[in-house]
Amino acid sequence: FHVPNAVNEPVKSYAPNSPERAAVSAAYAEMWNSTVDVPLYIGNEEVRTGDTKNMTAPHDHQHVVGVYHQAEKKHIEAAIATGLQAKEAWANMAWEQRAGIFLKAAELLAGPYRAKINAATMIAQSKTIYQAEIDASCELIDFLRFNVQYMTQIYNEQPKSTADMWNRVEYRPLEGFVYAITPFNFTAIAGNLPTSAALMGNVVVWKPAATQVYSANLLMQIFKEAGLPNGVINMVMGDSGMITETLLASRDFAGVHFTGSTGVFNDIWAKIGTNISKYKTYPRIVGETGGKDFIIAHPSAHSKQVSTGIARGAFEYQGQKCSAASRVYIPQSLWPAVQAELEADLKSMKMGSPQDMSNFITAVISEGSFDKLAKAIDQAKADADAEVIIGGNYDKSKGYFIEPTVILTTNPKYATMETELFGPVVTIYVYEDAKWAETLELVDTTSEYALTGAVFSQDRYAIEEATVKLQNAAGNFYINDKPTGAIVGMQPFGGARGSGTNDKAGSMQNLLRWTSARTIKETF
Ligand code: ALA
Repeated sequence: FHVPNAVNEPVKSYAPNSPERAAVSAAYAEMWNSTVDVPLYIGNEEVRTGDTKNMTAPHDHQHVVGVYHQAEKKHIEAAIATGLQAKEAWANMAWEQRAGIFLKAAELLAGPYRAKINAATMIAQSKTIYQAEIDASCELIDFLRFNVQYMTQIYNEQPKSTADMWNRVEYRPLEGFVYAITPFNFTAIAGNLPTSAALMGNVVVWKPAATQVYSANLLMQIFKEAGLPNGVINMVMGDSGMITETLLASRDFAGVHFTGSTGVFNDIWAKIGTNISKYKTYPRIVGETGGKDFIIAHPSAHSKQVSTGIARGAFEYQGQKCSAASRVYIPQSLWPAVQAELEADLKSMKMGSPQDMSNFITAVISEGSFDKLAKAIDQAKADADAEVIIGGNYDKSKGYFIEPTVILTTNPKYATMETELFGPVVTIYVYEDAKWAETLELVDTTSEYALTGAVFSQDRYAIEEATVKLQNAAGNFYINDKPTGAIVGMQPFGGARGSGTNDKAGSMQNLLRWTSARTIKETF
């Protein structure tokens, strides 16, 4: 089997006066000045129920960019039925045809749709152009290309045979449908979760996050233009509880591909357990959930590497990446230099609308998120064992803006060292240089999560100590680099403990979860 060698999509610069900047600015202006009406996509039908919700821009929350229609239970049941009808032809389609559809989708994203998908992600998810480019364009294109390559590697993985006995393994899709639940913070994850299951021959009912529907709608149009048959991916929106309840009650529910909060994933897992005897087959449960991602610096670290790691790792996309650094451990000897550099770095970060491409920080996703963050900041201002040393201002009059905020605490178990906040707030604990080993222990035991983490050190022995001690504390572990920005094909992404099932996004092992293999022995 042979497919084009997967290559990572190069990141465009969007420098002033570049053609790509002109294209994305034009797409942004056009989309800003018009509205869309997003239907449910069920088979070949675009269903408009009339029960709509507004889609707004987080940095200008009175600005409506469109509406989406909400499903009733009957629409969810129709999505299951339509998917199952499409299943046979899709599962039995030559794998090259399926691969071709997703490779074509990657090329549509890389070319004609690039400006639009980036602009959509900037407007409704409030990403800067750079963050939109590395997500909605490059990472999603990479997921599609690399998954096709991994799929062929899986199909090529065959057992031994002899002259008169031919053994083979067919990597069949699951019997039933897959439910994909995707988050607001990455258009790439929204695209990857339904397509990775579909690539392996599954049909999917996909529920995007309410705050990501705007770009999800474009993705559906791209998949269709690429030739995805009707019914293979059905997109539904509406009451999450009702949608999940209905899908998990189906005898044909065969798996869930999830990215979101730990609490929701736990509820889904429990519900699957309750329903287990109803299902035709044991469902696959694949999820990436919360994080409380760390940075620990050793006294030997370069202060500038550490401060840049914090500034970028904690504040890109307003700290709303699941991989974002949110608890930091700095040795006393390094702290004055790190503090001075971090202050200078954060002061130079401009905050405002993503339309102005010189801004580094834009708004957080929603009022709920804003209020939770503002409360944590106020609490830190009031608490004796914490102080806000940088930032700490917020304003939601026009958009949900929160300054990049640094909390310094004398308590390594302070609330914001333990609790996931998902925003532009990082908490720093300064430890005595001699307590490196104790601090590694703190890093390992302070959080229930294990998604990403980073160690900064110029001492090889200390790097080794951290790598061993923190072996279960992060599914993605970075040495002398920030803990965000995993690249498909280079750093497969996912965490364990409370952070998920660690079936790395963009990997063979993830695609295998969407198969139920049949071994065939034939004698001659
Ligand atoms: N892949 C994203 C990152 O690593 C989540 O930041």
